[in-house]
Amino acid sequence: MKVGVFDSGIGGLTVVKSLLEHQFFEEIIYFGDTARVPYGVKDKNTIIRYAIEAVEFFKNFELDLIVVACNTVSAYALPEMRESADCPVVGVIESGALAAQNALPSKDANILIIATKATVNSKSYENELHSLGFNNLQAKATSLFVPLVEEEIYEGEILEAAFKLYFDDMTPPDALILGCTHFPLIAPALQNYFGESCQLIHSGDAIAQYLEKEFDFTERFSEPQMKFFASENPEALRKIAKKWLKL
Ligand code: DGL
Repeated sequence: MKVGVFDSGIGGLTVVKSLLEHQFFEEIIYFGDTARVPYGVKDKNTIIRYAIEAVEFFKNFELDLIVVACNTVSAYALPEMRESADCPVVGVIESGALAAQNALPSKDANILIIATKATVNSKSYENELHSLGFNNLQAKATSLFVPLVEEEIYEGEILEAAFKLYFDDMTPPDALILGCTHFPLIAPALQNYFGESCQLIHSGDAIAQYLEKEFDFTERFSEPQMKFFASENPEALRKIAKKWLKL
């Protein structure tokens, strides 16, 4: 199978990492819209327009599947992407909610969703989780984490100050949904802040679990062909991909 992975920028590489670990795909084509990131502060119509342009770009590759790594795009643009694509399109929100369900024994569990402003405003995670019977939910837009991760700040004083700013008034959660591509990179710091008893739900691992259930992967590919594209400075994206994915 040949898959296209779409993100607003570099963050979707965290999802590629999970896909690589599962060895599902023979070929992975990554597209990051680095010229127009961040999407998380944009409005619905703009996000949909950019997402449809990404589908058009992927039409050059005769894909079997498009994985939308970006939570913000998954929250707003899946129906429109599905309409314009000629292959299935899956997002990370439904799978993230299902992963929370698998991880949590009780429907009373308190789940904190952290994501971009746009994803939080869409209430997509809440809607999915409500439909699975979870009602004890909190959501917080933690937009500052995106530029911090892009600056490769994964721990330390500045990050701790941001945690305090966002989480001081929150009830300590039983589970934390990392509802943004960048957040798995600060997962150890978040785990440390909330304590070992808090379950962290990672979009990349969640979508991998979901794909394993939904598709019939008869073969595994330990060394898939990989191509990385970006709307601006593709070389910078390829460098980060090499570093993060240890290529
Ligand atoms: N990729 C985005 C997401 O997962 C985060 C960065 C952005 O705002 O574009 O929501």
